[in-house]
Amino acid sequence: MDSNGDGIGDLEGIRAKLSHLAWLGVDAIWLSPIFPSPMADFGYDVADYCDIDPVFGTLAAFDRLLAEAHALGIRVILDWVPNHTSDRHAWFVESRASRTSAKRDWYVWRDPLPDGGPPNGWVAMFGGPAWQLDPRTGQYYLRSFLIEQPDLNWRNPEVVAAMHGVLRFWLDRGVDGFRIDVIHRIAKDPLLRDNPPSERPGPGFGGQLHVHDENHADVHAFLRGIRAVLDEYPERMTVGEIDPRIPDDVAKYYGRGDELHLAFNFNFLRARWDAELFGREIARFDAVVPLEGWPDYVLSNHDVPRHASRYDDPTHGEARARAAALLLLTLRGTPFLYYGEEIGMRNGAIPPERFQDPLARTLHPKLSRDPERTPMHWSAGAGAGFTTGEPWLPIAADAPLRNVDAQRADRASLLWLYKDLLALRRATPALEAGAYRALDAKQGVLAFERHQPASRVLVALNFTGDVCSPGLPSARAQAADHTRAGAPLPANAAELELGPSEAAVLIVDASARAHG
Ligand code: GLC
Ligand code: CA
Repeated sequence: MDSNGDGIGDLEGIRAKLSHLAWLGVDAIWLSPIFPSPMADFGYDVADYCDIDPVFGTLAAFDRLLAEAHALGIRVILDWVPNHTSDRHAWFVESRASRTSAKRDWYVWRDPLPDGGPPNGWVAMFGGPAWQLDPRTGQYYLRSFLIEQPDLNWRNPEVVAAMHGVLRFWLDRGVDGFRIDVIHRIAKDPLLRDNPPSERPGPGFGGQLHVHDENHADVHAFLRGIRAVLDEYPERMTVGEIDPRIPDDVAKYYGRGDELHLAFNFNFLRARWDAELFGREIARFDAVVPLEGWPDYVLSNHDVPRHASRYDDPTHGEARARAAALLLLTLRGTPFLYYGEEIGMRNGAIPPERFQDPLARTLHPKLSRDPERTPMHWSAGAGAGFTTGEPWLPIAADAPLRNVDAQRADRASLLWLYKDLLALRRATPALEAGAYRALDAKQGVLAFERHQPASRVLVALNFTGDVCSPGLPSARAQAADHTRAGAPLPANAAELELGPSEAAVLIVDASARAHG
């Protein structure tokens, strides 16, 4: 939400919508980076970790937002970017000034090879070699992402201390935690060995097996240090972004309850709309998260196409978005919602001259993340209620029909389904914290149980295009949410019927626990 008509969302805009978020029932908001930045990568290139970019507001505006969010029971999570800074950060400006600069070793500098080439064959995730020659001192610096995003050297204790200081700066101000950007990249092979080729060798990022430029075992010691800082404060949390290439590796980042509180589970982001596939991904993550940890689930974020578009299908698109919501909000794990998914926002169409994401330029126009970043639809009318000015990205064409105002007024809307499910989740111990158990189901149906000693829930999703009875165990149903508004509550779970792409969650008699 843009409060001042410059077309860009800002802190005052978010503050104006806090009461809506409280109405919806969210527990916390995560803001992508709001720190001063040249915006080469939309804030993921931080020029000062301890201030607010004027485009988003001021520290005073942030303090107001935080205080009002807390008064409404909403926590605030910031996005901390430890792997790299902006090339305009004062640390890098000093580091690059000379080979003898006091901050030279805060970044990763190396001499060219005898032939003048880069120190090794690592490639940047956002295209090109991972090394950038800096003519002033004749050395290369490491950049895992854009040229404008030099990697910090976490092996230098001064960097660790400075970055811990950043965490304390915000924790002292009262923030509730951090989403941690690409945490698996802060530790690399100290010998800078080359990566072996992947099964599909080639010049791009996918052409290598990333065994040396990320995910180095030392990352866990760095994380324990980060966790120790968080643990100086009561009730704070971290959620780390780890590249999902090896999904089971993600679980290592929980440590023994002494590293991340949550490691992002991106398994759904790559799963087709398929009951067996979803069932496998759930079982897999549920099994690898250590006892001291806690799972989480994600359907959409700012880096991938929106799930309403991914699961779109000429006949069942809308129903699938509803079923996906029911799944996300009934699983054992913290659900992450991406703004707009609660009204079923789809990817916007971006004409090439309006591209903002650098990936359109450095990789391929098709890899632009702009389509999933279009402004939120608050209301019908010009600017979708997001801005009175020219929005930074075009507003998606369906905004006049698909918006918060329209859906708040419609009890059968997707927005109300999210609200109802969030409320049900909060009111039902088995949904909040109960164990997960897959149930046998017909092909094309995903069914599971969540249970606690005194609370039991059955969930079924019909991934097919036909009417079906999922065959849930016999149990007296006491309450339910169905993706078809107004669907009757079956007296017995075994009698549940689901239409195409429909899903239901049934609160059932806790005494009659199914076995098998
Ligand atoms: C993470 C962010 C992404 C950003 C990248 C580099 O993957 O989610 O948006 O471009 O890190 O910081
Ligand atoms: Ca603004």
